[in-house]
Amino acid sequence: KGTPPSRAFLHSLFFVHHTANPCCSEPCQNRGVCTSVGYDSYECDCTRTGYYGQNCTIPEFFTWVKVSLKPTPDTVHYILTHFKGLWNVINNIPFLRDAIMGYVLTSRAHLIDSPPTYNSDYGYKSWEAYSNLSYFTRTLPPVPEDCPTPMGVSGKTELPDVKILAEKLLLRRKFIPDPQRTSLMFAFFAQHFTHQFFKTDMKKGAAFTRAKNHGVDLSHIYGEELERQHKLRLFRDGKLRYQVLDGEVYPPMVSEVQVDMHYPPHVPESRRFAVGHEAFGLVPGLLMYATLWLREHNRVCDILKKEHPDWDDERLFQTTRLILIGETIKIVIEDYVQHLSGYHFKLKFDPEILFNQHFQYQNRISSEFNTLYHWHPLMPEDFHIQDEVYSYSQFLFNTTMLTDYGISNLVESFTNQVAGRVAGGRNVGRAVLMVAMKSLENSRQMRFQSLNAYRKRFNMKPYVSFEDLTGEQEMSAELEELYGDVEAVELYTGLLVEKPRPNSIFGETMVEMGAPYSLKGLLGNPICSPEYWKPSTFGGRVGFNIVNTASLQKLVCDNVKGPCPIASFHVPDVKDSVQGTINASTAHSRQNEVNPTVLLKERSSEL
Ligand code: HEM
Ligand SMILES: *[C@@H]1O[C@H](CO)[C@@H](O)[C@H](O)[C@H]1NC(C)=O
Ligand SMILES: *[C@@H]1O[C@H](CO)[C@@H](O)[C@H](O)[C@H]1NC(C)=O
Ligand SMILES: *[C@@H]1O[C@H](CO)[C@@H](O)[C@H](O)[C@H]1NC(C)=O
Ligand SMILES: *[C@@H]1O[C@H](CO)[C@@H](O)[C@H](O)[C@H]1NC(C)=O
Repeated sequence: KGTPPSRAFLHSLFFVHHTANPCCSEPCQNRGVCTSVGYDSYECDCTRTGYYGQNCTIPEFFTWVKVSLKPTPDTVHYILTHFKGLWNVINNIPFLRDAIMGYVLTSRAHLIDSPPTYNSDYGYKSWEAYSNLSYFTRTLPPVPEDCPTPMGVSGKTELPDVKILAEKLLLRRKFIPDPQRTSLMFAFFAQHFTHQFFKTDMKKGAAFTRAKNHGVDLSHIYGEELERQHKLRLFRDGKLRYQVLDGEVYPPMVSEVQVDMHYPPHVPESRRFAVGHEAFGLVPGLLMYATLWLREHNRVCDILKKEHPDWDDERLFQTTRLILIGETIKIVIEDYVQHLSGYHFKLKFDPEILFNQHFQYQNRISSEFNTLYHWHPLMPEDFHIQDEVYSYSQFLFNTTMLTDYGISNLVESFTNQVAGRVAGGRNVGRAVLMVAMKSLENSRQMRFQSLNAYRKRFNMKPYVSFEDLTGEQEMSAELEELYGDVEAVELYTGLLVEKPRPNSIFGETMVEMGAPYSLKGLLGNPICSPEYWKPSTFGGRVGFNIVNTASLQKLVCDNVKGPCPIASFHVPDVKDSVQGTINASTAHSRQNEVNPTVLLKERSSEL
């Protein structure tokens, strides 16, 4: 009889009397955990936060003392990037250097929950979220489904149109070079290195990863699956399969080893290189690093074989892989992070520094880390290789470039071209704008909390206004029009439009969020644990020494024929084509020294 009750009517019967989930307003401060109680009340769990009260806002006495004494992140950053003379002294006093490095590592890594907690489908602790490794983890739980606005309670009921947002605030007008003079050598290292653990499973969705180990496992060199690894291996002396072209070693062809690689149809079979990661045919920069690491692997195998003529292929392979993991972490901390940080303090890769600390040797990659690492503003407008300029369409998937120029020339060219500044807004090239848009869409689908929620989570003050965020008026006005409330600004938008620190590539949020994830991932590697971190793990003193002397410059010098080019994460101040190469033996003796001007001076005094 009559019409059935409408959905809206039924809905009103059950829900109208209840206000929105009270956790939508993020009432719990200082990392307290919000749980709704019934329909319209909530409880904050302040356990071990150092705070108490309804919203975990009242500090315990000891917390109050600590917080009062604690310098702000900007102050710490200022100290570390100034007073060069003082740092030069500290860098040479081993116990002080170790103590400061220990502080840097623990203060950062303690911001990451370990074991991991949430994921994009579970905003509360659950065995499924802990144990299902096909999810990226989440540092902050997703915004509850039943909230008034996408960011909880602040902002408009709909987020701004991604395309409009990208065109107004992210799209590059004119290339803005990074004031830290970051090179393309850095940019491609970043892309190559991070794609071993950022491997979104496009089939399952943005919340999922295809990476099985959630960390530095070198799956981008050896393949994710055992089957792929076996196809890439020579099964002789521990080595990887390779081919020799123009007298130099390169990765084998797909036709030869039969591994899956993603190439567009216009790339002929005869030019499809096969490497650990399916997507590394994308740019010559990635194939360049893939080639360098392939050569390094086979070089280390030769050294190990000399030490251990009795070892079989399997043992040589496995031990070499551990050595290359160690080399990678060494280079990432002492060359890569060192460059990014801009610190005068000299960072040190020494797992022993943590042996007297509580530290969990495990890691889980989080969605937020993946999102913040979308550093596509690094990419320039075109690519300067030797005396030629290449557009994106000439550069992308151009695998002949690898052999046309060879590793030396590519290293030299990428070292000499400056990358784009990441923060400060409007510096994403048209060619990769789609990637930034996708990143926003994914963040929305995964219900990321706001920029300010993340700032609080990582011990920063929330921005109080749009001008506070960008440090200028034009973009902040656009942002205000789009978002309405600074509390509603999304994480990725915020990271890219944030005012950079003085003369820096990034703003505060990128560094204060990125560094904890990064250091936790590097030092949380099993090879850094007390039982692993000893010479025998790496085949003895010789192998351990390869790990402890690794550097970007050495990686290049050990693996190119003839004089090796300067390899640097920042564009050298002097560009001299005559002295633009350095002697391999110099690189060996200098070990950790990567400053090319120093190398050049030594070279000239030798001459
Ligand atoms: C010309 C150079 C580049 C091109 C054409 C490019 C293109 C892309 C594309 C198409 C995606 C997949 C986007 C999606 O569907 O979600 C992606 C993802 C990504 N890119 Fe780039 N990119 C470039 C350089 C870089 C660089 C220099 C970095 C430096 C860190 C970087 C970091 C990332 C990250 C972290 C992801 C997410 C990967 C994943 O989760 O699977 N990209 N890029
Ligand atoms: C806790 O937060 C709620 C919601 O933000 C607020 O209404 C309430 O007054 C706060 N309680 C205390 C004790 O500050
Ligand atoms: C992880 O969760 C996804 C989504 O629920 C599911 O499809 C997948 O089978 C789970 N993986 C494992 C190993 O349980
Ligand atoms: C690829 O790069 C080479 C230079 O190494 C260039 O001659 C060629 O035109 C490029 N290919 C395409 C399709 O642009
Ligand atoms: C590098 O330096 C060493 C010793 O100074 C010298 O014997 C060697 O010939 C040099 N090699 C090159 C390629 O310049």
